[in-house]
Amino acid sequence: MLYLTRREKFSAAHRLWKDSFSQEKNEDIYCECSNFHGHNYVVEVTVKGKINPESNFVINLKTLSRIIRENIISNLDHKFLNDIEMLKGKIPTSENLVLAIWDELKDKIPDAELFSVKLHETENNCVEYKGEK
Ligand code: NI
Repeated sequence: MLYLTRREKFSAAHRLWKDSFSQEKNEDIYCECSNFHGHNYVVEVTVKGKINPESNFVINLKTLSRIIRENIISNLDHKFLNDIEMLKGKIPTSENLVLAIWDELKDKIPDAELFSVKLHETENNCVEYKGEK
């Protein structure tokens, strides 16, 4: 079994804020992230599969890149994450975002299986999901 990773980037704004909390509680839980701000996100999508004997690829990485750009990046890049369909009703934490990206991609990879989605929100913070409940 082989594991292939494609990295893509997007920039987006968000605010960590729960309407049912008071301003004080929002600031207490989300600190400065309760204010409007943006990130240059990096998403790493890893798929697993076997080598196709004809192509000698598991998956053409150009194909994987196109799938990520069409299904994920086009919906997130230069968007306000609190308003997007993919995160409807959810607070746009990296945790919720990585779950939404997983759900969008999981049935769209031909000839390989989605193994993990890793989302870097900053240089120091990232979250990874491998489909486990
Ligand atoms: Ni943030």
